[in-house]
Order: sequence, then C-alpha cells, then structure tokens
Amino acid sequence: MNSKIIKSCIKGIHGYVPEYILSNAELEKLVETSDEWITTRTGIKERRILKGEGRGTSVIGTKCVKGLLKKTNTNPKDIDLLICATVTPDMFFPSTANIISNNVGIKNAYSFDMSAACSGFLYSLVTGSQFIESGTHKKVVVVGADKMSSIVDFEDRNNCVLFGDGGGAVLLEPSSDENGIIDHILKSDGSGGSYLCIKGGGSKYPASLETINNKDHFIYQEGKRVFKFAVTNMANVSEEIMLKNNLKSNDISYLVPHQANKRIIDATAKKMGIGDKKVLMNIEKYGNTTAGTIPLCLWDFEKKLKKGDNLILSAFGGGFTWGSVYLKWSYNS
Ligand code: UT7
Repeated sequence: MNSKIIKSCIKGIHGYVPEYILSNAELEKLVETSDEWITTRTGIKERRILKGEGRGTSVIGTKCVKGLLKKTNTNPKDIDLLICATVTPDMFFPSTANIISNNVGIKNAYSFDMSAACSGFLYSLVTGSQFIESGTHKKVVVVGADKMSSIVDFEDRNNCVLFGDGGGAVLLEPSSDENGIIDHILKSDGSGGSYLCIKGGGSKYPASLETINNKDHFIYQEGKRVFKFAVTNMANVSEEIMLKNNLKSNDISYLVPHQANKRIIDATAKKMGIGDKKVLMNIEKYGNTTAGTIPLCLWDFEKKLKKGDNLILSAFGGGFTWGSVYLKWSYNS
C-alpha cells in the first residue's frame, strides 16, 4: 500500500486582462456617479472590458491557459484535467472549460466548469487539488475567468462601477517538498442566494420578452446586505484558517483576497492582524472580475512571492459562497 501523502502545489500562474480600460471618468458620462464616490466606497479606479462581438469568457481563459502552458513548458497533451470557474460561460453548454481545452490543444483530459461566483476560483483550486492529492492526476489546470461586462447593466450605477473582465490560470502538480496547498475551509449558505443573482435566463425564468424588459438577465445585487455578509464572513474564515493551522499574524507572508471592495479587504486584514504591506491588492486596476480576481492578483504579484511564503487566499461571493485556502508558495520566479 502506498502510504505517502501527496500534496498539491501551484507550479505556475498566468493571467490576462483585455486591453480596453473603462475608467471612473468614463463611467461618470454613462451614469450619475463620481470618481470620488467609486474610489472611497470601493477602491476601484478602472476596469477592463472585453470588446468585440462573439467573444466570450473562453477568449480570456484561452489566453490564460496558452500563456501558462508556454511559461511552464508544459505539453498540453500531458494535462489530465481542466476546471474553469466562471459565472459567465460562453454558453450554458458546452462548458467553457471544454472550449478552452479545445482551443489550446488539451486533448487527453476531461474538463468542466464550476459555478461558485466570486469563490469559484477557491472552490476549483481545492477540487483540482483533491485529484492531485488522490494520486490519480499529475497535472491539473485551474482557470478563474469572467466577462462580467456581459451581465452588467451599464445604466445601473449600483453595479456597473464594480465589475470588470479578466482571469487567470494555475497549473497544479504534486509537490516535491513541504510547500503546496496545506489546508482549506469552504462554505456556502443558499439562504443568501436571492441577494446576489441573475434572475432570468435559467430554467426557472427562461429568456422571454418579459425577462428582457425587466432586465432580469443582468446582475441583481442588494449591495448593502451583501456587504454585511461579505465583510463578516471573509474576515472570519480568514481568521479561522489561521487558528486551525496555528498561524500567528507574523507567520503570514501575504493575504490574497477576492477583490470586491477595498473596505471588505481592509476589514479582513484587520481581523487577521496584518498590516497593509501584507495585503496583495489590485482592485484599483481591474475592479471585481469575480472568479478572476485571486489568480489575477497572484499573477500581478508573482515576482514578489518567494518559495515557502505563507499565503492566505480568501473570498466571498454569490450563493452565498465563501472560503479560505492556506498554501505555502512553491517557487521563486
Ligand atoms: O463580489 C461578490 C460580493 N459582492 C460584494 O462584496 C459587494 C458588497 N457590497 C459593496 O461593496 C457595497 O455595498 C457597494 C459598493 C455595492 C455600495 O456601497 P455602500 O456604501 O453600501 O453604498 P449604498 O448601496 O448604501 O449606497 C449609498 C448611496 C445611495 O444613495 P442614498 O440612498 O444614500 O441617497 C446610493 O443610491 O450611494 C448611492 N450610490 C451611488 N452614488 C454614486 C450607489 N451607487 C452609486 C454610484 N455612484 N455608483
């Protein structure tokens, strides 16, 4: 019997954001808002938008995975599984994961999408890791990508200032040392589902003239209510994983938080007892890219990360879903 414990680790990361920059100044022309309101309430200055007809989330995911395979010198034929976290799939089916795999030449694998909104990347990272840890898979790609502009109503100032398009992908492999994914806590609470959702277009309310007229295909969010849940749960779950692993504030190298609102991130850091320097944040550049935020953040700050660094990844999102992952970074770039 093989009793060796296999740990999963991130071997490489690559991100992608579209070129088009939608600034707060430009949004001031679309809805009644101001750079001052957006900056002080959210921390966002600009976000990226994927332009062009017929271009969905797979465009973002494909760029991420292509870059990842090149960077890690990985043959696409060696990938066992690809998971894509997204709430903005190209279509209901086939899965965006299938489309990405086909685009990049991943032929000897199976692939599927995972829907856990802003916690989607963490859910997928943990799921992908289980396949590595079980010893059945050697190379798993996890993508977090969303084209939020496809579900944002650019006449709704409550939501259009918050979201952007982008994503990132990681390669998981068995770890050869003590580094890798150490622990996770994932949670969900379906009683919060109606506060952040898309009401129309699913099997409950299929697309009709009525759903279009009601704007039911756009994001519906009760911002204040979601904020209250997010700020408490993201902070608590980040502290919980520290306590569970006997980590003190000084042990933490970086918090890599979901980028929905700077105030939520600040509250999480405060609860963990860590200062600003240990918080990786790029919300000002990209806004909330849903499943894309955490891999985009790791990609942006990759050069800063050193082998053995203790990272806490944490997220909160629609569902409600939330969670945290404790990992020891696996390489120097
Ligand atoms: O990522 C998934 C999870 N989602 C989140 O974590 C988002 C959680 N929620 C939030 O981040 C915040 O609640 C928002 C950023 C969405 C809103 O911030 P807030 O401080 O909770 O503002 P509010 O919704 O209470 O609105 C305050 C005021 C309102 O006006 P009145 O009623 O006080 O006159 C809004 O109508 O600000 C108004 N407002 C705006 N004003 C200028 C709302 N949106 C805007 C805007 N520009 N874009």
